[in-house]
Amino acid sequence: MTSSNQFDVLIVGSGAAGLSLALSLPTSYQCAVLSKSQIASGSTFWAQGGMAAVLHDRDSIEAHVADTLNAGAGLCHEDAVRFTVSRAREIVDWLLEQGVRFDYRDDMPDAEFREFHLTMEGGHSHRRILHAADQTGRAISEVLTQRATDADNVTLLPGYCIVDLINDGEKCVGAYVLDTQTNQVHAFSARAVVLATGGASKAYVYTSNPDGASGDGIASAWRAGCRIANMEFNQFHPTCLYHPEAKSFLITEALRGEGAVLQLPDGERFMARFDERGELAPRDIVARAIDHEMKRLGLDCVFLDISHRPAQFIKQHFPTVYERCLKFGVDITTDRIPVVPAAHYTCGGVVVDQAGASDLPGLYVIGETACTGLHGANRMASNSLLECFVYARSAARDIVDKQHLAPTEAPAAWDDSRVRDSDEDVIITHQWQALRRLMWDYVGIVRSDRRLEFARNSINLMREEIDGYYKRFQITRPLLELRNLAQVAALTVECALQREESRGLHFNQDHPDLNNDATDSILIPDRWPSSSIPNNLKHTLPQYRGDQAPECQP
Ligand code: FUM
Repeated sequence: MTSSNQFDVLIVGSGAAGLSLALSLPTSYQCAVLSKSQIASGSTFWAQGGMAAVLHDRDSIEAHVADTLNAGAGLCHEDAVRFTVSRAREIVDWLLEQGVRFDYRDDMPDAEFREFHLTMEGGHSHRRILHAADQTGRAISEVLTQRATDADNVTLLPGYCIVDLINDGEKCVGAYVLDTQTNQVHAFSARAVVLATGGASKAYVYTSNPDGASGDGIASAWRAGCRIANMEFNQFHPTCLYHPEAKSFLITEALRGEGAVLQLPDGERFMARFDERGELAPRDIVARAIDHEMKRLGLDCVFLDISHRPAQFIKQHFPTVYERCLKFGVDITTDRIPVVPAAHYTCGGVVVDQAGASDLPGLYVIGETACTGLHGANRMASNSLLECFVYARSAARDIVDKQHLAPTEAPAAWDDSRVRDSDEDVIITHQWQALRRLMWDYVGIVRSDRRLEFARNSINLMREEIDGYYKRFQITRPLLELRNLAQVAALTVECALQREESRGLHFNQDHPDLNNDATDSILIPDRWPSSSIPNNLKHTLPQYRGDQAPECQP
């Protein structure tokens, strides 16, 4: 290990959560921010919708809390919801201070009195989505990346991929990290490590997410001994562009907030048959309704129509969607948009407290990688950016308060003396495709016990092969991502099998009803000392005990 790999705080992931944590630490803290590819290339950059915040006189914190609890189908932790929602104003002020610009109402030109333009999305009872046209993630990402680039205490390291966390038996003291340029693994040591790697929607063949969403943080935290919860609640976004070359491009829910309607090929509107809120019902309901209609009528897609709004309005509010659809031959000012649901957001993740602290001292987990209790069984649209900022700033405060000690010994260097270069990369590509197809077909929008059992057995076989491959060959980014994706897929199936009911995003046709008691599905790795299981969790203890992957290659 070289001294350049020692930091006060090591942050894995450079989206909204990771960068805002880096920028919230005192400047005396040296921190490194790792990103698998370019700094601004993850899910944050691609977020179209916006950030939910109570900013209008007629709206209230109580209404935002009630909407979130309602969307979460009885499984949200109310303390986490209140903690997050009540900090929105403070977060908006912080973002404005950093230089982020949101859209204002254009009917209020007087700078002194103008108000933000707030849009509407599913599950919200008020207009409360702060946005920058349909490029909100990009607006935030570019400003925070620039601020982090300018900060003397922040080292940005693009092209670095986490292999595993380093746990000295008591606390997290760093991570093994692959430099994807040189294919060398380095040991980084830090007083605190933060996982902010996003979610795992790449586990599904159709997804709105960028390629990096392979669950690296969730899988690493599990291997390091942290509890994982509620992985069965993978959110499917109802409307992604249906086109063979569009790679599941997202059509923001804000279109429906501004009046777009869902139609069958013959023009019939169908959402009212499923929910009185129609197109603005929470996402689980809309995605299931579309899935139902597609299966009932044997359709490849349904249609979203906003062409009744003025062309000028559409182009001003949705420039990204307009341009992108036009590229594929769909002029949304005159044509209907062909849409299908696609995997979008991982509501479960690593169990953390209000400071983002995980079970392993010194390890923090924030953003989509974490399970804070905010989303419950179904995330309400645009609550996630808010959660990223609230927990990033809370974690930064906790890191400073706890003054984590430096590691007593430098972590051992990575030992790859007994592995060789891979001669069969085709196995990785094949397993990657097979796993994602399997998850879509068997662990998708509608599930059954038999499908889940089949998925469990198939994933176990795949994991044996992948682990064997990992032990024998030099690691590469595709191999690490496949190993993580397979781990996260296994955790998702275990959570889904544990839940013998249908709730929120999890619908199992063998258990279509809701249980009276709402309980989290919590998975506990073997390494977690059972003596430290808090009493209030004992009744939810799962049967599943995890496997233990090697901390470094043999
Ligand atoms: O539809 C959207 O723009 C997505 C928003 C979100 O996932 O929060």
